[in-house]
Amino acid sequence: MTAMIKVTEVPNQPRSKTVELFRQHINPGLVTLLEMGEYTTIEPLRAEGAVITTTDTKKILDFVSSYGALNLGHNHPKVSAAVRELLSCQRVDLSKELLSPYAACLAGNLSQITPGDLNKLYFCNSGTEATEAALKLAARCFKGQRPRFIYAENSLHGKTLGALSFTGAPRLREHFPLLPGFEVPFGDSQAIDDVLTDKNNREQIAGVILEPIQGEAGVIIPPAGYLQEVRSICDRHGVLLILDEIQTGMCRTGTMFACNHEQVIPDILVLAKSLGGGIASIGATVCSEHVFATAYGNPHECLVQTSTFGGRSTACAAAMAALEVYINDDLAERAERLGRTMVKGLKQVQQKHPGWIREVRGRGLMIGIEFDENILNQAKSYLPLHIPGLKNILREHLPGMVAAALLKQFGILGTLMLNNRSVLRVYPPLIIDEKELDYFISSLDDLLGQGPKELIKTRVNHALSSAGLKFLTSWTGALTGR
Ligand SMILES: Cc1ncc(COP(=O)(O)O)c(C=O)c1O
Repeated sequence: MTAMIKVTEVPNQPRSKTVELFRQHINPGLVTLLEMGEYTTIEPLRAEGAVITTTDTKKILDFVSSYGALNLGHNHPKVSAAVRELLSCQRVDLSKELLSPYAACLAGNLSQITPGDLNKLYFCNSGTEATEAALKLAARCFKGQRPRFIYAENSLHGKTLGALSFTGAPRLREHFPLLPGFEVPFGDSQAIDDVLTDKNNREQIAGVILEPIQGEAGVIIPPAGYLQEVRSICDRHGVLLILDEIQTGMCRTGTMFACNHEQVIPDILVLAKSLGGGIASIGATVCSEHVFATAYGNPHECLVQTSTFGGRSTACAAAMAALEVYINDDLAERAERLGRTMVKGLKQVQQKHPGWIREVRGRGLMIGIEFDENILNQAKSYLPLHIPGLKNILREHLPGMVAAALLKQFGILGTLMLNNRSVLRVYPPLIIDEKELDYFISSLDDLLGQGPKELIKTRVNHALSSAGLKFLTSWTGALTGR
């Protein structure tokens, strides 16, 4: 056995050691993918708000926000202080028997702002667990007689088996033993009605699970009125509506929850990510008294759905402090206002550089830029197209190349969407200031102004000089079946 690394040694550990340990012991494929975008060259030292400072004092602006988990940015002082205070007083952090007062108060506070009469909360540690709890809750309302759910194409509700069963992402689902469900196009309420109108189907279906705005599908905003229509379809057919607000919740789209835009009250609301203010890992499944009583009303059922770490005091204290910030700083209004300016600025960039961007879409600060792969035709003469599959690879990695260039040239951290390769995610923390948003817009403007040749040449050369091309070929093949 080699000497164990001391926790005190970690801050001074060279980056190369971290990368190598990740490669050896955690996820070699992920390391290669990140090397392709030169993310592994960044040596973060500290992070505050939207800014990550590197060991060589460079500033990196975070436009990923950990996929929506950092609505308050990195290390929000009020959230950090709440956790520090709790730990410094040596309070009980973990004990189910001693009922955490922080869990109790967080539940009380959240139930005041959740839609309608949703006032019963189950706390867990992540999004997928919160989805699992929602699915179990709904299925149990029908005494297990209805094990199926309707879910949308390109959705993401989590990667554990239950949540994955009702997630419409073929690449994530492959080779797993999943529960059967009904997949429908997102935004098409008639398709849901059609499935439920068939009596044989309906008798097996406990509910419909949807994201109010699909995130990983590439920021897909459904037609106005869609959620209300789905709500009334669910009521008419006697099934439950589960809304997954893991990504859209906590002010991201310009309201506390995205379902507030259409005043829709789900039967079950699922939260995680920014619920913990970027510091705690916490998820919540929220339902009405009636739904809870139907599923778990009998006292002897009180241990059927629990989680060892769920509702621990530190996580709940962080969430309580975060909730105060969302409300007191009116971050919903801020996200709405800054989002409008951001989309307008990005649309100006789109017009200024024709051919690059197919669409800019967003609600609040949940924004996606869909690129047009046809721009690659302009760079045909510079491409080493004799390399098998290169054209397809480039087509599916255009936003990836843009993200890598934004990082290298402008110090902007960006990334793609899990279920849509053509969209660049624009998810800044909601506390970001206008100047930082302007910087993103002017950097993208500058980058696109350099033309596709520069971008492609740099990225392809980098891929050829690393293990990246082989990796991308297999990745693209797996994605497209080619
Ligand atoms: C909408 C949505 N639901 C569920 C999940 C799963 O959350 P977690 O990664 O915390 O399990 C995600 C994660 O990105 C998500 O975006």
